[in-house]
Amino acid sequence: MWMQNRQVQKLGGGRLEKFGVRLWSQLQFGAIYSRKERAVYNLLRQVQRDRRTLLTAFEGYLVYSSARAQEKRPGAFAEVGVFQGGSARIICEAKGDRRLDLFDTFEGLPATTDKDAGVHQANQYTCSLESVQEYLKNYPNVHYHKGLFPDSTHDVPEQTYAFAHFDVDLYASTRACLEYFYPRMIPGGIMLSHDYDILEGVKQAFQEFFADKPETIIEQPTTQCVVVKIG
Ligand SMILES: C[S@@+](CC[C@H](N)C(=O)[O-])C[C@H]1O[C@@H](n2cnc3c(N)ncnc32)[C@H](O)[C@@H]1O
Repeated sequence: MWMQNRQVQKLGGGRLEKFGVRLWSQLQFGAIYSRKERAVYNLLRQVQRDRRTLLTAFEGYLVYSSARAQEKRPGAFAEVGVFQGGSARIICEAKGDRRLDLFDTFEGLPATTDKDAGVHQANQYTCSLESVQEYLKNYPNVHYHKGLFPDSTHDVPEQTYAFAHFDVDLYASTRACLEYFYPRMIPGGIMLSHDYDILEGVKQAFQEFFADKPETIIEQPTTQCVVVKIG
């Protein structure tokens, strides 16, 4: 492999990562431009212009296409790990009038544990709730839950989900996402996570959680993985 995972992880959130995401995305945008709907290309470009996001163009595309694929299914949409709202905006464009629940501390990452590779710091990726609310103000039925997940679920109605996007970087946060959402996903519901194959803690949380479940983890050519709930 031209760059080992540990080296990629060390880019964790710094200028190099930002540069890498931009550069990689430029190549990917060419492919999206030539093969996909122009409106989706324009959306992904706009999001990269508006907000700092850690999603490459292909990763943004997969967030959009997975959310869109759930258009006709019952259940809410959710995202844990919102940061400046880049991926949330992409989900908003795919969701129509459907309910979207957004979870974040809006004070950056919680403390890491020894299951994480030590590449992140507490409070990294801080963005205020007000800034995200302003960015997404034109989209209906978006509900914000500020605080540490899963404590921040206390005001969420008991409901089922058709689509859940996780972008939380850390073992404990990813594990909490799986424990909360898995039993609430509809059959055919999609869970999509960023960073599965570049952050050890994220991968470990998925592998441990699904070790005794019937679903399989579908690795993507991006850093992401997808799990489709069976029943
Ligand atoms: C990499 S950023 C998310 C990037 C975003 N999805 C985008 O499109 O740019 C990770 C986010 O996860 C949040 N986070 C991680 N663990 C969390 C937890 N347990 N509860 C709430 N927020 C958490 C952090 O506050 C941070 O905003």
